[in-house]
Amino acid sequence: MMDRINSLREELQDRVAALQDALTNTDIRASIIKQINDIVRPIVQDTASSDAVQNALSRLSEFSQNVLTPMLDNYVSHDAAESLSKSVKDLVVTVNKYKGPAKTGTLVKRKKKMTGVVYNVKADEAVSFSSTVVQPQLKKSADVLIKVATVGLNHGDHAKADKHIPLINNVNGKLVGTEFSGIIENLGWLKGDHVHMFPFAIGDKVFGVTDGAMGEYISCSAENIFWAPAKMPYEVAAALPVCGTAAYRSLKDNGMSAGYNVAVIGAAGALGNLVVQMAASMGAESVVGIAAEEHAEAVESIGATTFLDYKTQNIEDALEDGSLDIVVDCYSKPDSEEKYEEKIKPKLKATGKYVALNANPIDQARKFVSEKIGYNVQRSGFDAQQGKLNRNDLALLASWWEEEKIRPLIDRVYGFNEEGVRDAFRSLKGGHSQGKIVVRVKDML
Ligand SMILES: NC(=O)c1ccc[n+]([C@@H]2O[C@H](COP(=O)([O-])OP(=O)(O)OC[C@H]3O[C@@H](n4cnc5c(N)ncnc54)[C@H](OP(=O)(O)O)[C@@H]3O)[C@@H](O)[C@H]2O)c1
Repeated sequence: MMDRINSLREELQDRVAALQDALTNTDIRASIIKQINDIVRPIVQDTASSDAVQNALSRLSEFSQNVLTPMLDNYVSHDAAESLSKSVKDLVVTVNKYKGPAKTGTLVKRKKKMTGVVYNVKADEAVSFSSTVVQPQLKKSADVLIKVATVGLNHGDHAKADKHIPLINNVNGKLVGTEFSGIIENLGWLKGDHVHMFPFAIGDKVFGVTDGAMGEYISCSAENIFWAPAKMPYEVAAALPVCGTAAYRSLKDNGMSAGYNVAVIGAAGALGNLVVQMAASMGAESVVGIAAEEHAEAVESIGATTFLDYKTQNIEDALEDGSLDIVVDCYSKPDSEEKYEEKIKPKLKATGKYVALNANPIDQARKFVSEKIGYNVQRSGFDAQQGKLNRNDLALLASWWEEEKIRPLIDRVYGFNEEGVRDAFRSLKGGHSQGKIVVRVKDML
């Protein structure tokens, strides 16, 4: 019976997707899909009985004849109406096929366990591999359950462990990781009545962001994901959401235009390599890549027109005063010894912008307030970039990858095991990777 119901879920989803294609008017579409959802919801739950299936079947037929047809006559084109009617008939046939034997009682669901990586401030690198993490559930109708392929590591991940304070900010036991790629395993709408996540289907390849990504499964809002192109490797998809969004916003929000002169500090890192590539793709006149000598070839190969080795070259002498439009600093932290902002500000044009990806708390607060009030109260010529996730930006990243405008550098792919994960975090903390550090959770084609 469970197999039948599961198979019914999948077929229903296909049918409803066909309905969506048939409708062009979004208001009407939302209304129809809501009504159909209301009808099919009782039969896609695990406890569905054959009575419930039979009941849904008759309601669907009734809905098709009495509601849908007049609605279609009034609101949508003849072709759309015909296509929609056919979809509903197909839906009825599908439901009919799966009338199962009567079922009594209620299923008691055990919480499933999965393997994941959790914070453990006492362990090496403050993370532990565990096979007893509770598998996340779909909590809201706008949630999606995703089978994780790859997770990208970010400095924010180990920063969380650094901020651990027992009883106040306890991270121990919480899943590590922020960005991921994977495949949709289940959809919340099957248990709810929201329609806004309808575009996604079970089996879709997606990438996105959530809090706690490093497990076999994650449950997250459909707002935080987008389709990854079919040919994009999962490792690449997991390298893009956080750094891709931050790189793009660093340039776009600061007026990046064709002909600009851009400099990138930390040009070989997970974020910096994307800034270099995006600046080049957006038509920069020149892109100065600042990194250690061992990354020179890689940084030039992705679009830097000039390479500067921060260890052996004097950046102040190498750059001309008043020559730069945007400087993106992917290295400095509030406590960094090297004060790049002081050194490089004279190199900016009067209209130029210094973009800090890890600004001090006061500058971050100014940025926060600016966004809230819609008026910029940041220091002049300065932007504390926070690169918040935005689904449109994910869509743009996907299309830029397809157009070969960006090819994120991947430093290394680590295994999903105790040693692999610790090595990955050790390398991340080292801060000298050439591109993104990722962990492959599951091999997927
Ligand atoms: N606001 C946001 O949305 C956002 C998003 C992502 C990241 N971030 C922040 O952005 C920063 C970069 O992140 P990431 O993931 O790209 O880190 P990463 O891959 O570790 O890159 C850090 C870079 O810093 C460079 N570096 C180290 N010492 C340097 C020095 N003395 N002078 C110049 N460069 C130096 C390294 O270059 P070499 O290897 O060549 O030495 C490396 O490429 C982090 O602070 C991170 O927290 C912010």
